[in-house]
Amino acid sequence: MAPYLVDWRSRYRGTALGVVEPSTADEVAVAVRIASAHGVKVVPQGGNTGLVGGGVPLTKHEGSQQIVVSLRRLNRIRDLDLLDNVIVVEAGVILQNAQAAARTAGRLLPISLAAEGSAQIGGIVSTNAGGTNVLRFGSTRELVLGLEVILADGSIWNGLQRLRKNNAGYDLKQLFIGSEGTLGIVTAAAIKLFPLPHSCVTTFIAVPSPAAAVRLLRYLQSELGDSLTAFELIERVCLDLVFGVVEEARDPFEQSYPWYVLAEVSATVKEVVLDDIVERSLASAFEIGIAMDAVLAQSEKQRVELWRLRDEITEAERRHGPSAKHDISIPVSRISDFLARAPATVRTHVPHARPIAFGHVGDGNIHFNVLAPAEDADCINRAVYDLVTTLGGSISAEHGIGQSKIELLAHYKDRTSLSLMQRVRRALDPSTTFNPGKLVHVPPVRGSDL
Ligand code: FAD
Ligand code: MLT
Ligand code: ZN
Repeated sequence: MAPYLVDWRSRYRGTALGVVEPSTADEVAVAVRIASAHGVKVVPQGGNTGLVGGGVPLTKHEGSQQIVVSLRRLNRIRDLDLLDNVIVVEAGVILQNAQAAARTAGRLLPISLAAEGSAQIGGIVSTNAGGTNVLRFGSTRELVLGLEVILADGSIWNGLQRLRKNNAGYDLKQLFIGSEGTLGIVTAAAIKLFPLPHSCVTTFIAVPSPAAAVRLLRYLQSELGDSLTAFELIERVCLDLVFGVVEEARDPFEQSYPWYVLAEVSATVKEVVLDDIVERSLASAFEIGIAMDAVLAQSEKQRVELWRLRDEITEAERRHGPSAKHDISIPVSRISDFLARAPATVRTHVPHARPIAFGHVGDGNIHFNVLAPAEDADCINRAVYDLVTTLGGSISAEHGIGQSKIELLAHYKDRTSLSLMQRVRRALDPSTTFNPGKLVHVPPVRGSDL
């Protein structure tokens, strides 16, 4: 059972009575019914790539026992319809396999993140995963048309519709998306597909500062419109970490720059020569001082190499040692202010801390991770999240709350939102069978709550 009991970063190790591996939605439902009848708690698990300890059981849970329900054997693609532009996939399908099935059929499944070789559709839906294409296509929430979910009483909710419009009452699927396995177990999802791009340009751009990166983002959008599909900010120190662990990784430039942007431009219109348009736009960006240098991938191999510099940052950081991770969300206009203030704020409390910053700047989502011993984490977290709150931001943009941020959510979220979350959780899962100790605590019901 060992791999199921420890999270991707080895920060949380739990205990469980066993790991259940059903292969159909009915079998998941039976597992939930049996567990619930015996007061056993159920921890849903997908690819176990989550970064907040949501998919592993607690070390112990107030005397009650837990099982892990792994969805990995629910791995069928149930349907792919080119007229509806939809793919219907079971929860245990690995994201990369779902993308490949769509591509083979001539369609794009736009959800994309560095963990896509392991993360599963159920985990993607349950965390409302973001990733590198949110700028153009939105988060998972905006791409899911329907869900099939096992509820806490072991019944199956068939909400696996594929409608683009449906105002017949509450949009129930949205409750489960991003609920981190606390409200139900997702067994299948219907996800929107898009036309495959006919051409694509990937460019690695050196920029003088985060402020310049934000101006470059808006400038390129004004020149290229929706065809700008990815825009990732990378601080120099991140590349140095990657060079330390990926032997074949090469610096795209001959000299070092303080900040970089990895941008991708894709055209779905045929016969558009993207390279010329991108080169012209970049030339103007150099002239106005918001970009300093750029390389364009000349082949698929080079494209993959450039993306690797971005995608390996998390793994390089893990291998480097402990870090306090902050997956923060702030208005795009405040990114430069945040990045100007956050490192100094952290060092006031922990002078030896080494902050590194990268992320999905177009979504206002910065991964501001601080390399420091675990015992400094609480102090660093408070300093970072206080600043984020001052700037009108959120303590989690895309990774969720899990167990690592449950106390932080209780501290930073307003009382009314917390109470609504607790009431929703209690209504759907009165005995807290699903994923106890994750996302939000559910205190016992008092008379005044009824
Ligand atoms: P797990 O880790 O197994 O579970 C995550 C949560 O979902 C848990 O709370 C679990 O209980 C619940 N869950 C899992 N399956 C189900 C189900 N079928 N029904 C109900 N609940 C379920 N995330 C991003 O958003 N954007 C990124 O760019 C990104 N990059 C990453 C890069 C790396 C290298 C790594 C390691 C992680 C990254 N992540 C990113 C985080 C992670 O990959 C995502 O959160 C992903 O969606 C988790 O999927 P999973 O299948 O691994 O879920
Ligand atoms: C990513 O975008 O690579 C992950 O979400 C980031 C992280 O490691 O914090
Ligand atoms: Zn991310």
